[in-house]
Amino acid sequence: MKLHNLFTASLLAAALVAPLANAQTSEPATDKTWWKHAVIYEIYPRSFQDTNGDGMGDLNGITQRLDYLKELGVDAIWISPMFPSPQVDFGYDISDYRGVDRQYGTMKDMDRLLAEAKKRNIKILLDFVLNHTSDKHPWFIESASSKNNPKRDWYIWRDGKNTGTVPCNPAHQNAAPYTPPGCIQPPTNWVSIFGGSAWEFNDKTKQFYYHAFYTQQPDLNWRNPQVEKAMFDVLRFWMDKGVYGFRLDAVPELFETVALKDEALTNKKNKYGDILTTRTNSHDLPEVHDTMRRMRGVVDSYHDGRVLIGETYLPNVEDLDKWYGGAKKDELQLPMDMQVGFTNKLDATRFRKLIGEAETEIHGSQPLFVFDNHDRDRSWDRYGKFGKTPEQKLAIAKLLATMLLTSRSTALMYYGQEIGMTTDKPARKEDVRDPNGIHGWPKEKGRDGERRPMQWDSSAQAGFSTNATTWLGVTPNYTTINVAAEKANPNSLLNWYKQLTALRRNNAALHEGSMTMINTSDANVLSWVRSTADGKMVVVSMNMSAEPQKIALALPSGKAAQSVHTLVTSDDALKNASTLDVTLAPYASWVAEVK
Ligand code: GLC
Repeated sequence: MKLHNLFTASLLAAALVAPLANAQTSEPATDKTWWKHAVIYEIYPRSFQDTNGDGMGDLNGITQRLDYLKELGVDAIWISPMFPSPQVDFGYDISDYRGVDRQYGTMKDMDRLLAEAKKRNIKILLDFVLNHTSDKHPWFIESASSKNNPKRDWYIWRDGKNTGTVPCNPAHQNAAPYTPPGCIQPPTNWVSIFGGSAWEFNDKTKQFYYHAFYTQQPDLNWRNPQVEKAMFDVLRFWMDKGVYGFRLDAVPELFETVALKDEALTNKKNKYGDILTTRTNSHDLPEVHDTMRRMRGVVDSYHDGRVLIGETYLPNVEDLDKWYGGAKKDELQLPMDMQVGFTNKLDATRFRKLIGEAETEIHGSQPLFVFDNHDRDRSWDRYGKFGKTPEQKLAIAKLLATMLLTSRSTALMYYGQEIGMTTDKPARKEDVRDPNGIHGWPKEKGRDGERRPMQWDSSAQAGFSTNATTWLGVTPNYTTINVAAEKANPNSLLNWYKQLTALRRNNAALHEGSMTMINTSDANVLSWVRSTADGKMVVVSMNMSAEPQKIALALPSGKAAQSVHTLVTSDDALKNASTLDVTLAPYASWVAEVK
């Protein structure tokens, strides 16, 4: 029987719920394990704060806002790529791993940001785009220059399936006919994640190169030890400067099979009209784990808690566990659990199952939950859509924050999540900036909607920039949804986040307690207990339904509550609750200390 089934079955059988057999107790924080309790905040630098009036955010803007982040309770910031780049994929196409793009500032600005962040005990994490470089990176320019260039093997070059004079140009990959007649077909039928063939023909050398993403993002060949060495040196370069870790971009794409073979076709099409393949030869291959182990060795050689975070979209917890290194725990400290945050349904049973799996099926490693990032519609919309009124939508956003910040997971946030920024997709094709959206319009509108300027206040351009034109327009609701307005409103989402991050830091049970699901057969209300070995206990209950829910919480081991004291709640009626028998308003969250 799988552990999580065991878990549900045994809990259902018991009238009073015992702690999970292998519920994990977090170790007390030491400097080296700071990441186990951390709140990590993703900043998309283009959109956070502009200080030079060019309509685009910059590193000095991040420095300027460090006090805000400190107040919010952030321990570390992950900055999306700020390296020199042609900006085809807004920085995810790097042309120099050891610099700062002029748009964002200078290396001096970066050094100042590192120093100012350190003063505030905020750690800086960078985005390590390791699967591919820009096609303008000197390595690729060399590689493409001739078949016998020493860097040829740094990328993945292959002959086409047949000979011919021009590459094929099918309207959609895997949807014949290939035109013009007699054209050269790409080496395999693989489809790029951003649409079209994953192979691009290079006229000079008459071979194709592989790109999992845009054609301007050629994949590095990680089977070549020189590539690994060059990239590991990049990690050392930034760690020597004081960078505390890395988010590994698209890391399951790192390897492809040696014999590049066609993959079976699925019956699915992407939004661009290509017929998708199974990706069995090009995604999440086992070889990647050796590389991850060696990479972990590089960060561990600093002996002070440098951390590796993975962008790991994976289908299940078994696969996720492999990215930690399973029982050995010698790969990434924090591969992202994308199952919980991108469930996109308010379903207590499903969250209980997924969060329970993260407790019991990753060998006691530390979960990392995330609800928002720069690639997905904002959680305000994905989950808020279930609320019927503005009040309910706010309650839902508070509920997500509660799940994220009162569980045992490390919490990953995205700028603007804390004020309830919304997804604002471009209305017209001519306004789209993300190439993904230009190419996929109108079915795929791209990712501009979740990347709009941070809403600081109600002044022009939301306090983001002094320029009348910003790289992406400011969302009109900034006049009411902004940091300044929410600071002043005790019931705002911003103040909710602040209360929760403070509790997470200062309340021993929420900081380091073990986590036990309770009332596990309730289909509407998700509840758990965080408790310390010396008996400190906090209960958390979240009503995921549109109806009021009456509950009688049953503490682990049949313990009776002597007193109940509300720490924070989005339901005014629960502020003075004195027992564990309560009624939760629709979408309400309740966090209470129990003695
Ligand atoms: C990751 C990034 C995404 C980028 C892609 C290619 O998924 O999050 O923004 O486009 O990798 O680097």
